[in-house]
Amino acid sequence: MELLEAARDVRARAYAPYSKFKVGAAVRSTTGAVYVGCNVENVAYPEGTCAEAGAIAAMIAAGDSAIAEVAVIADSPAPVPPCGGCRQKLAEFAQGDVKVVMATTAGKVLETTVADLLPGAFGADHMAGTAK
Ligand code: THU
Repeated sequence: MELLEAARDVRARAYAPYSKFKVGAAVRSTTGAVYVGCNVENVAYPEGTCAEAGAIAAMIAAGDSAIAEVAVIADSPAPVPPCGGCRQKLAEFAQGDVKVVMATTAGKVLETTVADLLPGAFGADHMAGTAK
């Protein structure tokens, strides 16, 4: 299935009773497998989780680890970019040149990359030389 279609499908199952803003995300790993996630809100608002975080968690739970492409979709006037926290989460498992496809349910599509979303990312290299 096309990655964006997978994100669109899972968006229908998003749990967003507070913001009413349903988001679907899908990641394809370097193995070709597709993992999906939706936002899951909570009455204690900060405890909610983003769609991208759900898709990444599904990938890791399946024993997979490297992201090859990302898709995110929401009902928004413009394609929704991953939030700051999700940019860092994506950067943990995706090279900078990995494509991120952002879309609206009305059909607008914008493409970018993980590096464009998070230039100068904090990464494992910065931890080199720390105490073992
Ligand atoms: N949200 C996501 O799931 N992913 C994004 O990329 C942007 C925002 C969710 C979080 C919250 O449940 C709702 O959208 C409104 O911020």
